[in-house]
Amino acid sequence: MSTSLIILAAGQGTRMNSDLPKVLHPVAAAPLLIHAMKSGAALAPERTVIVAGVGAREVAAAAQAFDDTAQVVIQPEQLGTGHAVLCAREALRGATGDVIVLYGDTPFIRPETLQRMTEARARHDVVVLGFEPADPGRYGRLVMQGEMLERIVEFKDASDEERTITLCNSGVIAASAQTLFDLLDAVTNENASREYYLTDIVAIARDRGLSASAVTCDEAETMGVNARDQLAAAETAFQARARAEALENGVTLTAPETVFFAHDTVIGRDTVIEPNVIFGPDVTVESGARIRAFSHLEGCHVSCGAVVGPYARLRPGAELSENVHVGNFVEIKNATLATGAKANHLTYIGDASIGADTNIGAGTITCNYDGVMKHHTEIGARAFIGSNTMFVAPVRVGDDAMTGTGTVVTRDVPDAALAIGRSEQINKPGLARKLFEMLKSRKAKRDEEAE
Ligand code: UD1
Ligand code: CA
Repeated sequence: MSTSLIILAAGQGTRMNSDLPKVLHPVAAAPLLIHAMKSGAALAPERTVIVAGVGAREVAAAAQAFDDTAQVVIQPEQLGTGHAVLCAREALRGATGDVIVLYGDTPFIRPETLQRMTEARARHDVVVLGFEPADPGRYGRLVMQGEMLERIVEFKDASDEERTITLCNSGVIAASAQTLFDLLDAVTNENASREYYLTDIVAIARDRGLSASAVTCDEAETMGVNARDQLAAAETAFQARARAEALENGVTLTAPETVFFAHDTVIGRDTVIEPNVIFGPDVTVESGARIRAFSHLEGCHVSCGAVVGPYARLRPGAELSENVHVGNFVEIKNATLATGAKANHLTYIGDASIGADTNIGAGTITCNYDGVMKHHTEIGARAFIGSNTMFVAPVRVGDDAMTGTGTVVTRDVPDAALAIGRSEQINKPGLARKLFEMLKSRKAKRDEEAE
């Protein structure tokens, strides 16, 4: 059966103390909302509807950047989770299958957990995701009778006895679209918060002779973000998991706790990652590569056997083929380095293609930007680029070519040619000694006057 998602994201997020909508705060370089969408994406949802409030335009832009079919509806006033879900009704009109409600500020629900909920849906009309937290605090409580879920009681409305229940509501709930909206029509706001509670649909379902049950998951999955300390805790939790997964997948991390992954980082087997490496979004490192200490990578692809860093920066569009070496204080942006190419020291390569086995000398810079537009530098295979070469792009250097140290390349260099462009050196015999003497006597005079 098909499933659609409703992701609640209209809450004020007051405790974040931020101009940014809460669900757009990032964990592992992706907005919280995208984590929730990724969990749900595993169910191949027929439709995805995000219920937004403040900052709806930014929320929509982020959601649609991840999934351009996602719909964003607005809940003008936050009247409760039940009201929020009702705001998605129009967007789901005609949707035949199930609906799963997720929270945009709860990033770690595992796809397998949602899968278990859809399986439980075959046996029950309403399925709620419960968990047993170390501290049940103010969570809503699941009132069970054997296998059956009788109702959910909000902490504020719960009796002392109900408050002793340890099985709590995560907020994730599944039902058919038809059932969900039918039940919500009967929800009122007669409760301690004067809110329309989504959770009330359980008792209404039971009254109508429908069945409800709970699936449980680990507390780690239901971790929500309401304030900056929880955002930091979510980051910590994500990183701990990502490091453990990397180790398990055969990646060596010399100092795991100093390596930071993004939500979508892919690292191959037998790659070694030295301390203090940071991965931004969209990085793939193939197997057997080495990412040396203090390197920063984003939007790039590193092939087998490549060595990056220490202190390298790979920016979006950096494409390193097999056995490429990129050394210290080298920045690569929107550039391809073919097999065996090397840029080992103090270099900027932007908007360029570098041929196989070409060696880029220290201090080389592709001058790709003229203040208005970006231009391309093309360097062929097996070229030898002398230290401190400046390529004033657009410019092309052929295969097997050389540039002399300090050359400013403004015109194309043919295959196998040597380009030298620098002013000639003159030696003045004895002039250095004379200069030293003159300067020393000047300094002595000044020191005397100062006394
Ligand atoms: C809710 C549940 C509670 C559960 C807890 C888990 C209800 C009535 N209560 O409580 O049983 O234990 O989550 O964290 O559902 N939202 C909207 N519009 C609204 C209200 C909320 O979009 O009008 C969104 C929020 O942005 C948030 C989510 O819904 O992502 C949950 O809202 P929140 O106020 O945090 O729910 P709780 O009162 O904590
Ligand atoms: Ca709340």
